[in-house]
Amino acid sequence: MDTGFRIHPEQASTAAPQVDALYFFLLGVSIFFTVLIAGLIVYFAIRFRQSAKTTRRPMEGNMALEITWIVVPLVIVTMIFFWSMSMYYDMSRIPEDALEIHVVAKQWMWKFQHPLGRREIDTLHVPAGRAVKLTMISQDVIHSFFVPAFRVKQDVLPGRYSRTWFEATEPGEYHLFCAEYCGTSHSQMIGRVVVMPQAEYQTWLAGGPKPDEPQAAGEALFARLRCGGCHGDGREAPKRGPLLAGVFERRVPLQSGTTVTADEDYLRQSILRPDARLVAGFEPMMPSYQGQLGEEEMNDLIAYLKSLGHAAVPAGANQP
Ligand code: CUA
Repeated sequence: MDTGFRIHPEQASTAAPQVDALYFFLLGVSIFFTVLIAGLIVYFAIRFRQSAKTTRRPMEGNMALEITWIVVPLVIVTMIFFWSMSMYYDMSRIPEDALEIHVVAKQWMWKFQHPLGRREIDTLHVPAGRAVKLTMISQDVIHSFFVPAFRVKQDVLPGRYSRTWFEATEPGEYHLFCAEYCGTSHSQMIGRVVVMPQAEYQTWLAGGPKPDEPQAAGEALFARLRCGGCHGDGREAPKRGPLLAGVFERRVPLQSGTTVTADEDYLRQSILRPDARLVAGFEPMMPSYQGQLGEEEMNDLIAYLKSLGHAAVPAGANQP
């Protein structure tokens, strides 16, 4: 991990050189105009001072000058706009094949869960050369996931999933900060990101204590909360609640007449506030699970619902 003084953090992700190029361009433009304007102020102050014998005739207007100071800034800001827009677009579009890691932030720690279930706190292991998607949520207040070396900063909100991604390029250790003031120990909410070669990451993933696979943990929760009583086991058509097999990312018709894509946010809301966006054709009879599930349990439960995605939907089953 780099500890010495540097003007800007090391570049350790695919986005870093692009962000820096734009940053240095902005810095260059700012320095150029600051020096130009400050220099002209000093020059004019001396050249046109009261005691000077210069003839001063008032200026009536100068078309060439006006056009220049409209066109030059226009070209520069338009360039900045399109440059940053295309970069922002790349940064907000998460690659399809990204490795998904779940992040739960709370006062004052970062909890991570890997695809096969391995969990860790305040240290995040990731493979180099592979896109990593973070699906993040906070258990309490707003935090912000910030890895300067990756040029990645994303707020982590309570009650809503936020997502970001990066592709680390250099194996090594990097600082992780919380970049949103979140209470007394905000400054302690720090950690590290360990970037490993892919093969080493696979070994690491398989190591450690036998993890609870999110999907299995979710299935156990599904049983413990007795979700099956109304929703069935996901394979047969249930009676009182919508069928859950294949629900993830399906378009769901709602009581209100609109439809919604059953993404993580919708599933989470439907567990906590079932009546908020009720599926068409069902009674508002499901109890709320608000306060009964932590965010990590919620992740497990959603992982289980996702795993039902490929279960065969029987013919004639009532579609949620
Ligand atoms: Cu979490 Cu600041």
